[in-house]
Amino acid sequence: MSIAIVFGSSGGNTEGVAKLIKKGLGKEADLIDIGKADASKINSYDKLILGTSTWYEGELQDDWDSFDKESLELEGKTVALFGLGDQEGYGGEFADGVGTLYHLSLKKGAKIVGDKNSTEGYNFEESKAVVDGKFVGLIVDEDNQSDLTAERVEKWVESIKSAF
Ligand SMILES: Cc1cc2nc3c(=O)[nH]c(=O)nc-3n(C[C@H](O)[C@H](O)[C@H](O)COP(=O)(O)O)c2cc1C
Repeated sequence: MSIAIVFGSSGGNTEGVAKLIKKGLGKEADLIDIGKADASKINSYDKLILGTSTWYEGELQDDWDSFDKESLELEGKTVALFGLGDQEGYGGEFADGVGTLYHLSLKKGAKIVGDKNSTEGYNFEESKAVVDGKFVGLIVDEDNQSDLTAERVEKWVESIKSAF
């Protein structure tokens, strides 16, 4: 089973979390920058961990935004999601990009795991990454809560390990 961690990152925060996830998984996984990849490369993997930061009030990170997402083939694939946001600066659209990737993955028939995470310990008004009261992926806030990042990543990676 081949695994890829695919990230879009403008300033390096999401890339940093992608690396932490890879380390935590402790198995072979390729790190792929969505800004430098094409769909055929990503479609060659069986299992995917997709990550994005959120920009410009609720939008996907730039490279994800310009990527041809319709060309992704996710039918039946195991997919987990993560994302970065700033809950103090953008509390009304906190980590919305993860919600966008979630709905895309659902629409494309992915089997989504790691999608029921507590919102406790975060302070925001609204987020498209919340479905039925839970974050649909790992949410990290390097702007305000970087001290919690390692623990959040570790806990989430443990929760998806059996699926990867
Ligand atoms: C201009 C600008 C717009 C942003 N918009 C949002 C937003 O709408 N929602 C959010 O949660 N975070 C927002 N952020 C915060 C980033 O998502 C956050 O800083 C993230 O860690 C950046 O990750 P990256 O370096 O991987 O791109 C914004 C940051 C900037 C500078």
